Amino acid sequence: MSTEAPTKIAVTGAAGQICYSLLFRIASGALLGDRPIELRLLEITPALKALEGVVMELDDCAFGNVVNIEIGDDPTKVFDGVNMAMLVGAMPRKAGMERGDLLSANGAIFTAQGRALNEVAADDVKVLVTGNPANTNALIAMRNAPDIPAERFNALTRLDHNRALSQLAAKLGVPVTELSNMTIWGNHSATQYPDLFNAKVGGRSAAEAVGDQDWLENTFIPTVAKRGAAIIEARGLSSAASAANATVEHMRDWALGTPAGDWVSMAVPSDGSYGVPEGLISSFPCTVTDGRYEIVQGLDINEFSRAKIDASVAELVDERNAVTELGLI
Ligand code: NAD
Ligand code: LMR
Repeated sequence: MSTEAPTKIAVTGAAGQICYSLLFRIASGALLGDRPIELRLLEITPALKALEGVVMELDDCAFGNVVNIEIGDDPTKVFDGVNMAMLVGAMPRKAGMERGDLLSANGAIFTAQGRALNEVAADDVKVLVTGNPANTNALIAMRNAPDIPAERFNALTRLDHNRALSQLAAKLGVPVTELSNMTIWGNHSATQYPDLFNAKVGGRSAAEAVGDQDWLENTFIPTVAKRGAAIIEARGLSSAASAANATVEHMRDWALGTPAGDWVSMAVPSDGSYGVPEGLISSFPCTVTDGRYEIVQGLDINEFSRAKIDASVAELVDERNAVTELGLI
């Protein structure tokens, strides 16, 4: 066993569906490899008993790098000294709902958790929001944590990124490993824009390789953007294992870095890049070095892409206005 101090990782919604996959991936080393970790698991009081059962199962895996597991229903205790916080706990949408319909139901969770992180998290805390509507929940947490640098609040669009890679690979009949430079722009919602003009297959523009604007507009984009709804329709429950996988991948890359020559999609506070209003948490192509991400600059945005990015950003502005009216920020 290493003598390195354990990384303290908070996970919320720990007795829920996503966490039933996520916690075991984190504990097995998929997040930080062979390094000691301490898990801090937050749930609401009625779910603590179920969470005890999940912890029994974690114990029964005898994972070598898990040095301690604590559970609780008080964010100021659970988040004390945490270096990473994965905010998953929130109500999932049901068939027929859009993710924005969850704003008032879930928004309040993130005011309380933002304040608690502000009070007790470690100075280097990185916060990733998976619970929907993820971008605006991350904005709420960020605005309620004024002492934590804003850039430490991210939201998850890696699942959309992975969905886009998988759909493109199937269309081109190539393995996903031949694809690179995929970008999801905007909101984790039906307005998101998966960009094939800047994506590459074997070094060439993916849009060019596909050579079919009709497929790109009328099949690819809606399939990726509405995949969450398709899964709810098929499973009767929202995506869980794939969401857990994407959550691990986002946090892993944020901590350990992105591969040379490629980038990933991360919803991060805008610095005004690509005309996205400063402070909105919007998805961009990002690279990470030494635990710090940068938005990739200088990409060509054609007229089609511009209109799609603007539409998704307009939705983020509407969501920000709605949570301002609700008094959450
Ligand atoms: P779930 O209902 O199975 O689990 C959610 C858990 O959160 C429950 O156990 C609940 O008790 C807990 N919870 C509720 N309020 C809490 C609070 N204040 N503090 C701590 N825990 C709390 O849902 P799930 O399937 O695990 O999904 C969780 C969220 O993730 C949903 O909002 C869902 O829409 C979202 N999601 C996001 C993505 C993405 O790509 N961003 C993908 C899939 C799901
Ligand atoms: C997803 O994209 O699968 C999740 O955000 C769940 C949902 O509501 O679509």
